[in-house]
Amino acid sequence: GAPVEVDISGIAPGEMKTVEWRGKPVWILRRTEAQLASLNGLDSQLADPASDRPGYTPEYAKNEYRSRNPEFFVCVAICTHLGCAPTPHLNSGAQPGLPASWPGGFFCPCHGSTFDLAGRVFSNKPAPDNLEVPPYSFSSDNTKITIG
Ligand code: FES
Repeated sequence: GAPVEVDISGIAPGEMKTVEWRGKPVWILRRTEAQLASLNGLDSQLADPASDRPGYTPEYAKNEYRSRNPEFFVCVAICTHLGCAPTPHLNSGAQPGLPASWPGGFFCPCHGSTFDLAGRVFSNKPAPDNLEVPPYSFSSDNTKITIG
C-alpha cells in the first residue's frame, strides 16, 4: 500500500484523528501534559512496559511514550488479542466495570483488555502485546505525518 500523508495541524491537544492505512484504522492522538503524566508509574501492571517484544514497535518508538515526539501518539487501532476495535477513553479510565487503577487509554470490549495512552497493554487480560505502532515520520515543519 501507498504511504498516507495526514495533516495534523488541526488536531487540538487531547484530540484524536482516525485515518486509514493499508485497510486498517490508525489513530493519531495529540496528548496533553496530563495524558503524558498518566503514563508514569504503570510499569509493574504492564505486559511489555519497554516495548521489547518484536514486531509491534519501531526502534524510534521504543521509549516510555512509544513515539517519535511525545505529543503525538500513532498506533493501529486493532486489539492485539483477536482483532476487535478498542474504544478510546482519553481522559479517565475509571468507570463502572473498568479497572479502578486504569488512568485511561483504550479499552477492548471483546475480552476486557486495557491499554494506556501509549498503547501499552495491561497484563491482567488476554491481549498479549502493545498496540502496533506503524512506520511513520513527521514533515520538517511538524504539520504532517506520513504513515507507511
Ligand atoms: Fe481485544 Fe480479545 S480481542 S481483548
